[in-house]
Amino acid sequence: MGKPSRNSLVAVCAVTLIYLMCVSQAAPPVCERLVHPLDQLAPHHFEGSWALVAGSLNHSPSMEALRRRDSITMYFSNSSEASTLSYTQINRFGDQCQYLRYNISAEGSTFTFDVQSRFSLSMYFLHTSCPDCVVMKWVVKSSRRISTDLYLLSRRREVEQKELEEFRAQLKCYQLPEPVVMDPTKELCPEQPENQPTAAAAPQAEETVAQKT
Ligand SMILES: *[C@@H]1O[C@H](CO)[C@@H](O)[C@H](O)[C@H]1NC(C)=O
Ligand SMILES: *[C@@H]1O[C@H](CO)[C@@H](O)[C@H](O)[C@H]1NC(C)=O
Repeated sequence: MGKPSRNSLVAVCAVTLIYLMCVSQAAPPVCERLVHPLDQLAPHHFEGSWALVAGSLNHSPSMEALRRRDSITMYFSNSSEASTLSYTQINRFGDQCQYLRYNISAEGSTFTFDVQSRFSLSMYFLHTSCPDCVVMKWVVKSSRRISTDLYLLSRRREVEQKELEEFRAQLKCYQLPEPVVMDPTKELCPEQPENQPTAAAAPQAEETVAQKT
């Protein structure tokens, strides 16, 4: 006795091998929590207006386009059908406001933008410990590229340093660059265009929060 049987040694080796394989493949533990899409979200959770606080994407011309915006507001609202919501994004460039409207359908943890068939745009919400924030992941697939964008939105114009650090950690999990952090002193645009009915004309659908150049 005291000598392990050959079978138990084999079993220990197999378990060790599987363990090593798993450890080498798993993302850092912090990422598992940060990248997991939230499901069972009621669309009305997002209702109302949000300010874009920070964003990052793996396409440098779009990062530059994001930097050129003074502010970005996002409105989610109910529609008559439970599984759809409407999304309005308002970009400020100096004293100009650009209104972009989309319908979004919700299925499980995936929110799909109703855009022209030129590309597909899916949105997911990720974990955040900031109580009045949401973190959105956009996955864009077009004939030219597949990209991932991450955006931190809040009911506030700027968030605590630790909340921004958590977002930075999320970006690292996706190997995305340092975020563009919006200037909280720049004014947001009003929810509805003022005295400019032509602004409601639908511009061509854009592939990301930041328009391509
Ligand atoms: C949106 O829908 C939710 C759930 O059905 C409801 O509680 C909320 O009052 C609705 N909001 C508006 C503005 O209709
Ligand atoms: C959203 O859906 C509604 C109802 O189907 C439709 O009337 C509206 O034109 C759509 N809006 C956009 C921007 O596609």
